[in-house]
Amino acid sequence: MEDRELNARLRGRDFLTLADFTPEEIAGLLDVAAGFKAGCPAAPLAGKTVGLLFRKASTRTRVSFEVAVYQLGGHSLFLTNQDLQLGRGEPVADTARVLSRYLQALVVRTFAHEELEELARYADIPVINGLTDLLHPCQVLADLLTVREKKGKLAGVKLAFIGDGNNMAHSLLLGGVLAGMEVRVATPPGYGPQPRIVARAEEIARQTGAAIAVTADPRQAAAGADVLYTDVWASMGQETEAEARRNDFAGYQINDTLLAAAAPEAVVMHCLPAHRGEEITAGVLAGPQAVVWDQAENRLHAQKAILAMLLGEEGSMS
Ligand code: CP
Ligand code: NVA
Repeated sequence: MEDRELNARLRGRDFLTLADFTPEEIAGLLDVAAGFKAGCPAAPLAGKTVGLLFRKASTRTRVSFEVAVYQLGGHSLFLTNQDLQLGRGEPVADTARVLSRYLQALVVRTFAHEELEELARYADIPVINGLTDLLHPCQVLADLLTVREKKGKLAGVKLAFIGDGNNMAHSLLLGGVLAGMEVRVATPPGYGPQPRIVARAEEIARQTGAAIAVTADPRQAAAGADVLYTDVWASMGQETEAEARRNDFAGYQINDTLLAAAAPEAVVMHCLPAHRGEEITAGVLAGPQAVVWDQAENRLHAQKAILAMLLGEEGSMS
């Protein structure tokens, strides 16, 4: 799809979940991201201000969005609930209404996905999901770019996610099937992905020719996989569960043994931050099959594509 057509389709929309987009739109965003990575000089955010409203810590999402906005000619404002009246009880809806009068887009990192949806409902500007407890779509758009670069394609690529059925597992399921991949998720019993996300992924998979498998057996998931992917066992907000989870997730680590079960040319991915010795060994993370730093870099390029397509005015990409 031409950038101009994609821009016309996506302009003004929210980016809350990958499931809101068609396979063609996702592929188009990846092409735009690759163009930015190759040095496309467009400045579609000239004169625009993007707010980043974060209720949780962030290194990659915050910095890559701020740099992306700057490099696209715009200005970013980092906002936390502690600085805003939101932290003193001003309603989410009022915050959304007011920020819409100043900003041209809002990137949000929060706990409940419903809060993000409420912000989006009351905001007149595009709202972008910078991570909720349910989903992390910006990460997965960057991950699709990384897999495409490393494997030369997405359709049919086998990706095994080993660990918690969390926001990353959910967005990998949705993004993976939109891209026609085979997505396998291995979690300990009781930590599986939410059934409604799995059902949605199955529905999309039927249309795209993709496949999903959810199992409790990490070796089964990893067998012959092209990509092994993991994430922390205790996500932000689950700190009090960390110790119990360390017990429950023993055996769900990406280590040399699990890597040996994957395809010989398999790559290892992690959204970061990593806990060495828990979900991944220090050796695998530092080893030749890990692509995590390229993966982190691609956050910048993928988010430029999102910003340019949601905010860019007609002709701003040419
Ligand atoms: N992967 C990711 O979203 O990292 P941050 O929490 O540092 O933003
Ligand atoms: N599942 C992790 C992802 C961090 C990028 C969390 O939500 O903390």
